[in-house]
Amino acid sequence: MSQSPAQDYAAPDYMFPEGFLWGAATAAHQIEGSPLADGAGPSIWTRFAHTPGMTLNGDTGDVACDHYRRWKDDVRLMRELGLQAYRFSVSWSRVLPDGTGRVNQQGLDFYSRLVDELLANGIEPLVTLYHWDLPAALDDRGGWLNPDIAHWFAEYGEVMFRALDGRVKKWVTLNEPWVITDGGYLHGALAPGHRSRFEAPIASHNLMRAHGAAVKAYRAVGKHEIGLVVNLEPKYAASESTEDKAAVERAHAYMNRQYLDPALLGSYPDELREIFGDAWPEWPAEDFALIKQPLDFIGINYYTRNVTRADGSYPLRAGAVKQPLGTYTETGWEVFPQGLTDTLQWVKQRYGDLPLYITENGAAFFDPPVAEEGRVRDPLRTNYLRKHITAIHDAIKSGCDIRGYMVWSLLDNLEWSLGYSKRFGIVHVNYDSQERTPKDSARWYGNVIATHGRSLADPLPG
Ligand code: BGC
Repeated sequence: MSQSPAQDYAAPDYMFPEGFLWGAATAAHQIEGSPLADGAGPSIWTRFAHTPGMTLNGDTGDVACDHYRRWKDDVRLMRELGLQAYRFSVSWSRVLPDGTGRVNQQGLDFYSRLVDELLANGIEPLVTLYHWDLPAALDDRGGWLNPDIAHWFAEYGEVMFRALDGRVKKWVTLNEPWVITDGGYLHGALAPGHRSRFEAPIASHNLMRAHGAAVKAYRAVGKHEIGLVVNLEPKYAASESTEDKAAVERAHAYMNRQYLDPALLGSYPDELREIFGDAWPEWPAEDFALIKQPLDFIGINYYTRNVTRADGSYPLRAGAVKQPLGTYTETGWEVFPQGLTDTLQWVKQRYGDLPLYITENGAAFFDPPVAEEGRVRDPLRTNYLRKHITAIHDAIKSGCDIRGYMVWSLLDNLEWSLGYSKRFGIVHVNYDSQERTPKDSARWYGNVIATHGRSLADPLPG
């Protein structure tokens, strides 16, 4: 029987698994503001941003989205948008101002109230312990370069697990160890701003030891699920040349396998020795027993791909090739949804069938000002989200076990060293008045959630 062209091109029926969780994500330093309120200690980001020249326009997190004071309204907003889940991070130095020891009850209460409010509104909290804001007091003791940090982190984790595990069922140890090290210890664009090929592997290794120690602590006191969040960026060779192919392998090992391999397979990729040369230490075998803990899920943050060629850049000897026909976001990242499908399939093929969450995905674009009728027209963002959610659907159809999707970000917020110059939110924030205005993408996403993905088949609204 021949099919009519209309049948051939029928819109796909988008079926997401039952229980697939739709939400949005933020991080403490990027939205909270009031970093020293109620007994909190400073973090490395408070210090870094207050050091002249470190952030664009000298922007700091002193106010940010003022979420520390507006959290109740923000939860109401989440409910209005129809979010089922909210991924946020805890500021370590709010809870433990010195990083270890004395607990600041007021800091802990902030997160406890937030969790209660989320639950009262039917929103599931996903809590990240570390999204880059190390207590400054611990940086004074060497920060991620001090091997003791594994114990400090586990101690902090235990405080949080004991306080919230009855109510929080999904925990994340670290957000993006690659960015923490590459930005904070190798290239210096992020706090604490170091630039050292010798420090980078040590910081990475201690991050992974801390991750393992926190998971161990969780198994002793927690009853639910814990995982690790990594940012993955697939690498495609710019040409068939041997040099470019070797560069792809290095870049892939450095960014995508450096943290998942030890966490899930118990060893580092061999390429790291080649990349770091004499700066790559010999690690004690017992460290890998600590690092490789059984995990309940992996969280993947996906933004873009990289077309890679061999070059002289330090120390990877691999660089990016801009695509002349590509679409790029305001952060200069190519929009490449197929890369998300490829990445999810690669994770399954290399690491086996672990439940996966997309813990961040989104884009910064120039948004027009809020229109008189209160709309923010952001079709590029809607289009980006739609294509990426569709790419996830493709991965699910091919057998990947994907449990949820969190947009980055709920709110326009502080984009680290780039200050307030980049807007990733599905909700616009007026930084003068702190007024929140859901963008068109937020309304569109709310509808995707309400239809459990079926509305992805609808044409995009004008
Ligand atoms: C981070 C976020 C950041 C986003 C956009 C991720 O690497 O987890 O904190 O704002 O990317 O750059």
